Amino acid sequence: MKTEDDWPEPIATLLRDHQMMRGMLKELEYAVGGRRPDEVRKVADRLEGVIAHHAVKEERGLFPFLMDEETAEVASPLYLLMTEHQEIARHVARVRETLERGEWEPTREASEALAEFLLHHFATEEASTFPWIVQRLTEEELRAACRHVEHIARLAEPET
Ligand SMILES: [Fe+2]
Ligand SMILES: [Fe+2]
Repeated sequence: MKTEDDWPEPIATLLRDHQMMRGMLKELEYAVGGRRPDEVRKVADRLEGVIAHHAVKEERGLFPFLMDEETAEVASPLYLLMTEHQEIARHVARVRETLERGEWEPTREASEALAEFLLHHFATEEASTFPWIVQRLTEEELRAACRHVEHIARLAEPET
């Protein structure tokens, strides 16, 4: 199995994000399983921020290098991922809504649905989208994409 070390930047950065989010989904699962609403809220808040930031890295940092030359629009495999990003955000919102209403069983279902959808999204990106992107971009384009993603990554660093 390929690890992040096998990928060029900025894909390696995006894979590290995926790994971090996989860990957060586990934390969410434990918090839900232990019926700890405060913990669920905390993890969901963090996850929401990381997911949104990761989507910006992909959509603004990387995808603009993969426009369809004929239509001048984002290439179609990426368009699907962008609609999935919106769907993921809706899944997170659902976890928070059910939690705030104190509905435990729906919170559990929403958390499971989020995890399932997000893991499937990562799997698609890692198995087909990222290899397709790496094949399509020149080294120079990858370096430029890397600068964009690094810039976006810095924008969300906590102030010290
Ligand atoms: Fe994505
Ligand atoms: Fe991703």
